[in-house]
Amino acid sequence: MDFQHISVERRDHLAVVTIQREKALNALSSEVLSELATASAELELDDGVAVVALTGAGAKALVAGADIGEMLELGPMEAQALSEMGANLGSSIESSAKPWIAAVNGFALGGGCELALACDFIYASSKARFGQPEVKLGVIPGFGGTQRLMRRVGVAKAKQLILTGDMIGAAEALRIGLADAVFEPEQLMDEVAKTAAIIAANGPVAVAEAKRLIHVGQSMSLDSAILLEERSFASLFDTDDQTEGMRAFLDKRSPSFQGK
Ligand code: CAA
Repeated sequence: MDFQHISVERRDHLAVVTIQREKALNALSSEVLSELATASAELELDDGVAVVALTGAGAKALVAGADIGEMLELGPMEAQALSEMGANLGSSIESSAKPWIAAVNGFALGGGCELALACDFIYASSKARFGQPEVKLGVIPGFGGTQRLMRRVGVAKAKQLILTGDMIGAAEALRIGLADAVFEPEQLMDEVAKTAAIIAANGPVAVAEAKRLIHVGQSMSLDSAILLEERSFASLFDTDDQTEGMRAFLDKRSPSFQGK
């Protein structure tokens, strides 16, 4: 993978995707979005990767939003295309077979908060600041924020954040359920790696199926979603991983999953 605005680094089964625009607080230009989309597609096909982490270069920001300089002169059609790029990236993370962890090392504003919301877990440094300040620029969240934030923190809290545009710190983000865990800055990536190692030791097909069911079940009736779960549960009994996982338990040894 050869990128100019992001980097992808491997730590065992964890792939760390870092947005490399430190001077602009890792703002999401269309080039950054395009490289993130390419990286996400490539990582999806990489059997050696079990978990992906998304973070930002430097100590100040995951992402301070979509690139305001680039957006200034956009017309409605171009803004629609930009919004679709962000939405598609969010959907590819959300529908990925691999868990994604947002490692929020500073500001996660606008499109940055929205990318974090598409991830499965949001781990924050104690210095993280979250916000959807788009209304201060005369626009609204355009990368899924009006929808994913309310699903995560509830309608009232989402309205409060989006309509005021105010930022909140890591402790408040944890309190309202926006962040899943908060760590000291120097521990953040180690904690991400610990979670990744735990997940990587599990059956990959089972992890992917569980993630998929939780995701699609949110927009289904309970009865239909449970029917889908039954089918999926049954299909896992056609995998080598099921035999290996159960055999290893009975043999009192660690399983060696093949992901098939
Ligand atoms: N786009 C482009 N450049 C940005 C940026 C952004 N979203 N955020 C920060 N930068 C740039 C600044 O212009 C500055 O560049 P220069 O050094 O060339 O002047 C550099 O990053 C450092 O920023 P500051 O000097 O402003 O740093 P600070 O510590 O004083 O403030 C901040 C940090 C509070 C995050 C402030 O930079 C800020 O408010 N940024 C904008 C946040 C924002 O409004 N984000 C939402 C964007 S809209 C969006 O994301 C739409 C959507 O949903 C898709």
